[in-house]
Amino acid sequence: MKGVILAGGLGTRLSPCTRVTNKHLLPVYDKPMIYYPLQCLVNAGIEDILVVTGGNSAGDFLRLLGNGKEFGLKHVNYTYQEGEGGIAEALSLAEHFAAGDSICVVLGDNIIQGNILEARKAFDAQGGGARILLKAVEDPERFGVPVIDGDRIVEVVEKPANPPSNFAVIGIYFYDGTVFDFIRQCEPSDRGELEITDVNNHYIRAGRMEWSELDGWWTDAGTFESLHRASVLVKEGGANRMSL
Ligand code: DAU
Repeated sequence: MKGVILAGGLGTRLSPCTRVTNKHLLPVYDKPMIYYPLQCLVNAGIEDILVVTGGNSAGDFLRLLGNGKEFGLKHVNYTYQEGEGGIAEALSLAEHFAAGDSICVVLGDNIIQGNILEARKAFDAQGGGARILLKAVEDPERFGVPVIDGDRIVEVVEKPANPPSNFAVIGIYFYDGTVFDFIRQCEPSDRGELEITDVNNHYIRAGRMEWSELDGWWTDAGTFESLHRASVLVKEGGANRMSL
């Protein structure tokens, strides 16, 4: 399995802090934000990793991470997303890198307390398709929200005004090599982006989507409020722990 970190986008919700630098280089407590998704993948036993960056200061990722020695890696791959065409567009840039392998995709502003080893094992055992991770939250309207029927997810709704459940689809996704075919079928949403939720709904309609519930806390860090919360959570509980 290969790993992909999506660290493009313009981070406008964190302006002016993102006016001259990339959101994922901002500090979350004592480390740059990008360290957390990278450690998450390394902790899941994934060593072949692509960082998709974009916007400002893209070259600083290379200066910061180099070949990933600090994380025990031998090499890190990088590519660049022009503009802000959405999460699925950023992911499409990983097709060459994935070269048919399954991938674990982590959004660059997502941070977890624990690890994804169990979910990875479950995905490895399911024989293709996709797997998403859910976490119960108090503000599901900010996220992709699953419609759950029994033990199946029948749809994911992006930022619904009336959330159909109190779960968020967190920004860590497992996909088989067919994900890029699904992305090619996506059309830009009302906000002009290729949505990862549309990709997930393709898998759901094909009957090839499984899910796991994440243990430990999870947060994004893309708004001032969530960025602050992320720093507090990391300070108090530590992130990317191998056991909870
Ligand atoms: O955090 C989890 C949520 O992330 C999911 O529940 C939603 O379903 C999903 O759409 C996403 O929602 P956001 O609207 O919060 O995503 P945002 O635009 O903040 O992008 C999250 C990360 O994805 C960002 O840190 C970098 C990457 N990204 C985003 C865009 C729009 C890119 O690499 N390129 C992009 O063009």
